[in-house]
This record gives sequence, C-alpha cells and structure tokens, in this order.
Amino acid sequence: MTSAGSLEPDGQKRIAGEAAAALIESGQVVGLGTGSTAAHFVRALAARNIDIRGVPTSEATAALARELGLIVIGVDEVSVIDITVDGADEIGPELELIKGGGGALLREKLVWEASRRCVVIADAGKAVKRLGAFPLPVEVAAFAYKGTSRRICDVLADADIAMVPKLRKQGGEPFRTDGGNLIYDIDCGAIADPWALAEALKGVTGVVDHGLFLGLADLALIGGADGRVTELLP
Ligand code: 5RP
Repeated sequence: MTSAGSLEPDGQKRIAGEAAAALIESGQVVGLGTGSTAAHFVRALAARNIDIRGVPTSEATAALARELGLIVIGVDEVSVIDITVDGADEIGPELELIKGGGGALLREKLVWEASRRCVVIADAGKAVKRLGAFPLPVEVAAFAYKGTSRRICDVLADADIAMVPKLRKQGGEPFRTDGGNLIYDIDCGAIADPWALAEALKGVTGVVDHGLFLGLADLALIGGADGRVTELLP
C-alpha cells in the first residue's frame, strides 16, 4: 500500500491471483497463464500445496511452475483442462479481452479453448469500457511477414483503422514467440466491432492468431486499490 487504502497495481494483481488460486480444487488440471499477474496466481497455487497438474501457456510459466514444485504437463496430455487462470491487457464490459502483451497469445488461446472454465485476473487498470487503447498483438509466421503485414493493413482499412502494424522488437531484434513466430502490435484506437475484426484477421494468410479473446472468459477477478477483489461475469 502507498497510503491507507491505496494498493499498487502489482498488489492488485497479487490479490486477484490469490483469489483465483482459492478457486482451484485438488485433482484438477489447471491451465497456467503467462505474465506478472499469472505468476502471482502460480505462486499462490503452489503455496496451497494441493494435488494439481498444471498446463503452462509459455516456457517462462513452465519454468516458474517447475521451480515452485508444481507438476507440469503438456496440453496434449489431457483431453480437457478443468480451469485456466490467466491475465489480460484489457478487459471489456462483457469480458472481451486483449491479450498477448507478454507474447504468449497463441499458446494461451490454445489452452483457453481446451478449458472447461476460464478465469481472467487483473489489476483495476485493465478494465476498460471499449477495447483498443492497448495495441492489439497479432502473431504471424516469420516467412513472408512483410507481405502478411500489407494484407493486415488491408483488413484494418476495411475496419476504418488507419494504422500500420508495428513489428515487436526485443533487444533491437524481432521478438520471437515460444513457437518461433513474430508479433505485430497494432495501435487500433477504440475497436468498434471486435468480433468482426477478429474474424477478418483470422482470414489473413500468414496470421497465426490475434490477441482478441472473445466469448472465452467465464469470470474476471479484478484486484482493486482498496484491497478488495471484484468478480465480473460476462
Ligand atoms: C501474455 C498476456 C498477459 O496475460 C498480459 O500481457 C498481461 O500481463 P501482466 O499480467 O504482466 O500485466 O496476455 O501474453
């Protein structure tokens, strides 16, 4: 807390992660998200010391989970994941999300879609009225990525978004996902129709996936500056 009743964003992420960890039951297969909020969840889950198997959404989360003594399995080792808990970059009023700020969007979406229940956890700053202030990550194949960028521009123009996709860099080099793909970040501004944009982006050859997670989250747990966790339903 910085002052009475003013929990910092990282503390807000922590209490959201702890609230999500309290939902997990012994015997469950649990999808483990990626990012700083998901890391709080993984730590709180490990601290409960219950019998679970974790399906990580990135190499970073797999390393953290193993370090904490959790059993880690691959997504294809089970037919269904009981519950997945993950962070987000933006959360809209109907729990439509932008994800992928940490670069794990494809594995995250694959794990989410294999899950019976998906819980998104975040600090209060992630809740927005409309998606789009956070640049939308779009994962593309490295082969012919410049041509893919041009085709993405056409899709954006049809959606009245006049932005050029920006190739994500790390240490001066193109950022590579765990699967070896590249990411374009697109400063969309307010996205008028996320469903239409999602469908159009998926239709672009070379696009592997995008960070719009629509109709996937069943519950959001938002940590507040007052130290309370608010539950939101779609
Ligand atoms: C990673 C993600 C993360 O969930 C998202 O970027 C939020 O990160 P953080 O919890 O560190 O704020 O989508 O691909």
